[in-house]
Order: sequence, then structure tokens, then C-alpha cells
Amino acid sequence: MTAPDLVAVADLADDWRTLAEAALVARERAYAPYSRFHVGAALRGASGHIYTGGNIENASYGLTVCAERVAVWSAVAAGETHFTALAVASESGVSPCGACRQVLLEFAADLPVLVVNAAGRAWNTSLKALLPMAFSPADLHEGRG
Ligand code: THU
Repeated sequence: MTAPDLVAVADLADDWRTLAEAALVARERAYAPYSRFHVGAALRGASGHIYTGGNIENASYGLTVCAERVAVWSAVAAGETHFTALAVASESGVSPCGACRQVLLEFAADLPVLVVNAAGRAWNTSLKALLPMAFSPADLHEGRG
């Protein structure tokens, strides 16, 4: 991947800065004693409410759940299924894993994504860019018969 242009979180528009800061706070609550790779996610619902999550690891490693999915589960459990923006915070600023991209697509055909690093710098992308030619819920209703 070519190096993205980084912007300071402090210089972002209010709504993005709020979301980025929520992701950084969520990262502090990550439970990651095995990888020690702490990730925080903040997902803004169509209602405007922000749902957060940190990655939650397990001694049975494969049971680990990423920060992004914890945020999605929290939102859906609260009754929110439409989302307008996602911020993901980690030490170096990594984009969501493939599994999380697919889970996010279930609820947002295209979602602006802000990737944030621990130094408070960020870059923009989108779920469409991260998951091109995706299998989506609509595909279940096409091409039958
Ligand atoms: N992780 C996330 O929470 N989100 C990502 O987008 C990438 C990976 C977590 C999973 C695991 O707890 C740790 O980071 C190392 O892979």
C-alpha cells in the first residue's frame, strides 16, 4: 500500500475529531494481553450516537474479536443498524481486517473510514475502497432461478 497522507486529529472537522477521539479512548479499554496490539473503534449510527469497542482477546486465541466488530455488536444490540462513519485507532494506524470489512458491509454499503494512529494522526478511506467487488446482502436476492 502506498503511504497515505496523514492529517492531525486536532485539525479534523468536529464530527471526525469527536469520532477519532472516541476510538482512541476505546483503544485504552482493549483487552489484548496476548498480542498487546490494542485497537479501538468508534462507529457513528444514523441516529448520531457513537458506539465504541476495543478488541477483546481470549486465551483460546481464535475466539478473539476485533474492535470494529465489538463496536458493531454493541450498536446492533442497542437497536442501531445504519451507520455513517467509522474511526479505528491503533498504534501505527491499521485499517480494518477482512472479516470486519465484511461485517461492516452488512450494515453500510459505503462507509467513510478514518484510520487513526496513537500519535494522533489520521488518514481517510472508505469501505468501498477497502472491500471492492464485495459479496453483499443484495446478492442473496439476485441471480436465482
Ligand atoms: N485487531 C483489531 O481489533 N482490529 C483490526 O482491524 C486488526 C486486528 C486486533 C485483533 C487482535 O486482538 C489484535 O488486533 C492483533 O491482531
